[in-house]
Amino acid sequence: MGREFQTVLAALLKILPDYEDMLVENLVRPFILKDEDYKLLMDIMLGEFNKGLGKETNPTAKVKMYPTYVRDVPDGSENGNFLALDLGGTNFRVLLINLNGQEVTMESKIYLIPQHIMTGTGEQLFDHIAKCIHKFMSNHDLLKEKIPLGFTFSFPCKQIGLNHAILTQWTKGFKCEGVEGEDVVRLLHEAIKRRGDIDVECLAVINDTVGALMSCAHSDRDCAIGLILGTGTNACYIEKLENVGLWDGDYNEPNQVMINTEWGALGDDGCLDFVKTEYDRQVDKHSINPGRQIYEKMISGMYMGEIVRLALEKLRKHGLLFGGKGSEELSTRGRFYTKYVSEIESDVDDHFKNTKQVFEELALEKYSDEDCRIAQYVCSLVSTRAAFLASVGVAALLNKMDRQDVTVAVDGSLYRFHPHFHDLMEEKIQQLVKPGIKFKLMLSHDGSGKGAAIVTAVANRLRDSGKESIGENGLEN
Ligand code: BGC
Repeated sequence: MGREFQTVLAALLKILPDYEDMLVENLVRPFILKDEDYKLLMDIMLGEFNKGLGKETNPTAKVKMYPTYVRDVPDGSENGNFLALDLGGTNFRVLLINLNGQEVTMESKIYLIPQHIMTGTGEQLFDHIAKCIHKFMSNHDLLKEKIPLGFTFSFPCKQIGLNHAILTQWTKGFKCEGVEGEDVVRLLHEAIKRRGDIDVECLAVINDTVGALMSCAHSDRDCAIGLILGTGTNACYIEKLENVGLWDGDYNEPNQVMINTEWGALGDDGCLDFVKTEYDRQVDKHSINPGRQIYEKMISGMYMGEIVRLALEKLRKHGLLFGGKGSEELSTRGRFYTKYVSEIESDVDDHFKNTKQVFEELALEKYSDEDCRIAQYVCSLVSTRAAFLASVGVAALLNKMDRQDVTVAVDGSLYRFHPHFHDLMEEKIQQLVKPGIKFKLMLSHDGSGKGAAIVTAVANRLRDSGKESIGENGLEN
């Protein structure tokens, strides 16, 4: 080899890492949005909230802003034994909850919903749920008792009463035939009746965001937003009745109601196209509900791992990761779990212990420290974008409510297990809220159980009075 060539080669090898970095950067740059983009997104979100709230504009709005029939936060006097169902999160659960003032005790059991039931018929789904309730009651020696039940049903529903909720569309991998357009409480009661061996009445149906808000408000009266960052994402908040064009209830005190925003559907009309990446488009295309829940698909746990996987695969195909050699696992849709993102980002030193563990699980044979660093970088870009996008929604709500001090109750596996989500959100919300608004992000514990029990407790008190919504001290309206 000529001397000159060797010199050129040596020089090239020196700049190669920089050049490779540049190539990596080019492929993942679309995940990085500017401050102005986030500000613009907040304005878009705010516009969509108002569109959903307006009587005339609601029919064409994508963010539906459903009024719930919950008008106030709990006063702490709720008590008794309650059953709760939690459907729509990571697991399906049946719970037994005892409320006694601030003291809450809870027992719960997770039951599996097999894939064929998630995408089968509604009758199969509700028969399965009724079977699980029976099993749970039998194991807890409750078969002879009549216990009020609260149903946390975490899908978009138009509510027409505290225990009437019409499913508008399935999300998060569920697609049971014959349920959309139907009252899910009626379907549950019919399944219970078909069995004929349990005496259970569902008194309230709530969204998981409402559960989170109620559960947190039990101990913090400033709580006015409930946020879920888990398999899916959504938020609810307390709105003045004068702003709710769709409100058809009374205007007694308190003149407010919780609104289930169903913000996951933001972007279903194309308004997020300017920030979507090719990876987002692929995730959407291969989902069970293409074109739907666009904002949710850019944020939540059901999709984050897959977004990262697609980006890693792209880098790998360009020879920028794993020396270009992947694995069947890495090439398999859905195989890069969202928990990997949290694990990889939890590595704090150059040993990359978790990252290497993930690579092993993905049967990758050859990887360098540089591969670990790149994978970590990709994970952090995707999760940071998710945290910032969710912050846009929270900031829009805070600015809209314009209260001085607001506690945001947050629940969901993504928020709970990701090492930086909380801090990233605090930072971004702070940048976006009007000066003077103070907020706190508080982890809400077991809202889907406790929140459902609290609402059911009040509904139980109300049932004989013929009242339809829950207001001041649970006694009015
Ligand atoms: C559902 C919401 C729910 C959210 C979080 C979304 O897919 O539409 O109702 O609150 O997931 O579980």
